[in-house]
Amino acid sequence: MRILVISGSARKQSNTGIIASNIRTLLKGPSTEVLNFDVAVHTLPLYAGDPSEESHLEVQRLRSYADQADGFIICTPEYHSGISGSLKNALDYLGFPHFKGKPSVIVAVAGGGKGGINALNNLRTVLRGVYANVLPDQLVIDKVQIDAGSGTIEPVALQKLGDVTRELVRTVDQIALYTESLQSRGEVV
Ligand SMILES: Cc1cc2nc3c(=O)[nH]c(=O)nc-3n(C[C@H](O)[C@H](O)[C@H](O)COP(=O)(O)O)c2cc1C
Repeated sequence: MRILVISGSARKQSNTGIIASNIRTLLKGPSTEVLNFDVAVHTLPLYAGDPSEESHLEVQRLRSYADQADGFIICTPEYHSGISGSLKNALDYLGFPHFKGKPSVIVAVAGGGKGGINALNNLRTVLRGVYANVLPDQLVIDKVQIDAGSGTIEPVALQKLGDVTRELVRTVDQIALYTESLQSRGEVV
């Protein structure tokens, strides 16, 4: 299976990037290919619907990864009670053909100890717009749980991150089994 991990902070040394990196490590396994799109590294033009955007290398990379993905883990910082503008911009390049029928897990990275839920709710609303199947399991990690120096996160948060990651993998596996059984009966998928 292929899982696309999107990191939605445009800051170069971001907490969201650290969480995405930990998720990629958790996902590593013989049957999983991890695709990585970090908006801080893969800089996208601001979506303007201009035909020239179609040939932009990073737009093509994002769309190709999303096409290939069987599931998504999307990480956003909470900025002013919502998702980051750069993640919203990335999602504006995608649509229902990329997401429909595939599960997604969402993770928010907050600050101040009480944030995150607004970003998750905002992201869930946006992903509804692209027909993503967002699983009920979700997670907020606060920046106090992250050691930016070592790129590690506290054990309780890492365990919860493992839980939501495994839930995504389990759901992708279930969909693959269902698809195989339909195909073996000659039914249209
Ligand atoms: C412009 C801005 C707005 C923010 N707004 C919120 C907020 O509404 N709620 C919250 O919990 N944290 C807020 N934060 C803190 C970030 O969520 C926090 O730093 C987090 O670790 C993610 O940031 P990063 O991935 O860009 O490092 C804000 C940070 C910035 C820069």
